[in-house]
Parts: sequence; structure tokens; C-alpha cells
Amino acid sequence: MHTPWDHRFAQRTKRMGSSAIRELLKLTEQKDIISFAGGLPAPEVFPVEAFSVACERVLREVGAQALQYGTTEGYQPLKEMIARHTSRFGVEITPDNILITTGSQQALDLLGKIFINPGDKILVEAPTYLGALQAWSAYGAEYITVQVDEHGMDTDALEDALRSGPKFIYVLPNFQNPSGATMTLERRTRLIELADRYGVPIVEDDPYGQLRYEGKHLPAVMVLDSQYQENCEVGYLGNVIYTSTFSKILAPGIRLAWVIAPPEVISKMVQAKQGADLHTSTFNQIVAYEVSKGGFLYKHIELIKSVYGERRDLIMAAMDGYFPPGMEWTHPEGGLFTWITLPENLHASDILKTAIEKKVAFVPGSPFYPDGGGHNKFRLNFSNANPERIREGISRLGKVLNDAVG
Ligand SMILES: Cc1ncc(COP(=O)(O)O)c(C=O)c1O
Repeated sequence: MHTPWDHRFAQRTKRMGSSAIRELLKLTEQKDIISFAGGLPAPEVFPVEAFSVACERVLREVGAQALQYGTTEGYQPLKEMIARHTSRFGVEITPDNILITTGSQQALDLLGKIFINPGDKILVEAPTYLGALQAWSAYGAEYITVQVDEHGMDTDALEDALRSGPKFIYVLPNFQNPSGATMTLERRTRLIELADRYGVPIVEDDPYGQLRYEGKHLPAVMVLDSQYQENCEVGYLGNVIYTSTFSKILAPGIRLAWVIAPPEVISKMVQAKQGADLHTSTFNQIVAYEVSKGGFLYKHIELIKSVYGERRDLIMAAMDGYFPPGMEWTHPEGGLFTWITLPENLHASDILKTAIEKKVAFVPGSPFYPDGGGHNKFRLNFSNANPERIREGISRLGKVLNDAVG
């Protein structure tokens, strides 16, 4: 249907679709549906009491500052805390390397704003995070893809893809959204070497890196790059733009994340952010800092890991018990998602329709592939539903899948 508004909207809006995930999230509002669709944290682990105490203290002690405009770069003590946190992993960064953003979704959007001309190619994993595609398509991005397997991005295929001249490489090395895959150390190193050889920057999106339930921590691509570049003794001057977020380790509702990058990139992002929102909420930054400091955040992350690790084990066992033969799924070492592969002849979007009738939901795989594919894949989130609902939800889904396979 045409409306008088159609011809008034900018060309770029033609490339904006409402995200399939957001549409599906609407379903979670129906109480009787057990949804494994969204990437939602468990509400039980939100530190509500710590926030309540911190809000009260912030308003009492620095109320005027917290309610005032702030700098675009972000609240200095929060940036210093992030710098200390980063130095634990072996990279000495300065506050000039950091920008606080309104969620890492904003970081992705700002990167689109400063880097992408219409028609620019962005090298992404297939599958990849839908929100990044959504942000960059609006700037006219085209995509080159490299497949992800259980060891992360297939770096054997990377060199070929780099020959088509991408503007940057977008990679999710830890417990990837949506596949749950973790990139091996060897592949991380290879990625850095190839990116350096072809002169292509890397955008590393790492919301889940601290939520590991088994195996050994692997250094971030940015950390490895700082060792590789040899020019990063004071401050980071390398080839990686890193982003992480408080969404999965504290609470997504505060919309708080950070970017680490060479100062030149940070300055350009600051200019872009001024046009977007001037700065991230001063109040939220100060409160998050107050909640996090003194070791609270590290203790809280341990709590989240124990809850989600248990849920990961539970969903794995439930799928073993209820899913029919002929299906495969990933065993994520951390994060929030597992990725299911149906037999080739089945379409996840058809199965979703039946699943919804049976009051269970997931996200079908196709939207995570910018150049097609994934018709027989789907993503399940295991952080949000409690153990009882995980068991019941997977049992419902198992019945739907048994019927489909049968
Ligand atoms: C890979 C990835 N990047 C970015 C985001 C956005 O996170 P934020 O809440 O910080 O905007 C998400 C959210 O789920 C994500 O999975």
C-alpha cells in the first residue's frame, strides 16, 4: 500500500527492514510461549539491589553531575576502569583508545557511519550477527562472506575473500552469535596476518568473551594484534577496532558498551556520535561504574557463568533426549546460543510456524546469511528461560521436529 510518506523517505530506508529477531521477540510477550528466540539475559541474574543502592548513592553524592550533560567520549572513571580491565589481558591502552557507546549496537552503527560508502564491501562471517547487517545495510554496504565452522571463521577461505577489497573484516571470535562457535588461536593469528598483509582493518565484536563455561580463555584478536604490531607500547595503535558491552555482564537496559581502537578512529567515532546522541547517559555511566567497582562486576560475572553454564548443559541434555536423529547442533563453550542444523530437506521457517502453534519459538537461520543460505539452520538461546522452561520448551520443540522428520 502506498502512502504519502513513501516518496519522502530517503533512499537508504529502502534497505532497512525490520529485524526478524525483533519481530519474533514480540512473541515472547505472550506468556504461554516458551521463547528461545531472543538473546535475552536471565532476569534472575540482574543485580537489581546493587543498582538500587548505587542509584540512591549517586543521586545523593553526585546528583547534579549525574543529571548533567557529559563528554561524548564517556565518563572518565568508567573509561579508566575499562583500561584497567583491558590491561589484565595484556594490552596497555590509554583513555584516548576508548569510547563509551549507547550499547555496542551503537558502536556498529557509528562504524558504518564513518567507514561505509554506498557499495563498499564488508567481509562478514556466514552466519553473522543480524544487528550488524541491519546497521550497515542502511549505509549501503554490500557483503562478502566467509563460512564459519565449529572453529570459527574459516581463515583458509579468507585470503580469497580479501582479494575482493573489503573495507573491513567483521568477526565474532568468542561464542559467536548465532552459531556459538569459538575461533581457534591459530585462526585468530592467521586472521591478523592476512588482514595486515592486505591492509584491511578488523572489527572485533565481543559481547560474550567473559562468559566462558569450559575450556581456556583465548586472547582477543585485538590483544594478539597489539603483540603483532610492535608499536603498541603506550596506547593501542593497531589494526583492530574492538567492541564489548555491559549488556550481558550487567544489564542490557542500561545501554552501555565500549569501543577500543586507535585514537584516530576514536576521534572520528566521537564526531559521529555527537550527531547521534551527544553522549551516552551520564547517569547510567556513573551508576554502572558505582555498581561495577571494587570487584563487584567480576564476582557477578562468576554468578552469571554458573547460571548460564548450567542452562547450557541442560539444553544440550534436553536436545539429546528429545530431538530426533539426523539433526546436529553446536556445543558452545560459552555465550548464549546453540545453532541447530536440520536435515537439508527441511526449512526452519516452516518449522517455526508449527512450533509457534505448539507454543515454542526460535530464530530461523536464513537472516543471518547476507548472501543466502541457512534455510535448514536455526538458533536457540539458553540464557533466558529457567531450567523448567528449558526442559518443557525443548520437549515441545522435540515433538514438532519428530513430526517434521517423520
Ligand atoms: C554480537 C553482538 N553484537 C552486538 C550486540 C548488541 O549489544 P548491545 O546490547 O551492547 O547493543 C549483540 C546483542 O545481542 C550481539 O549479540
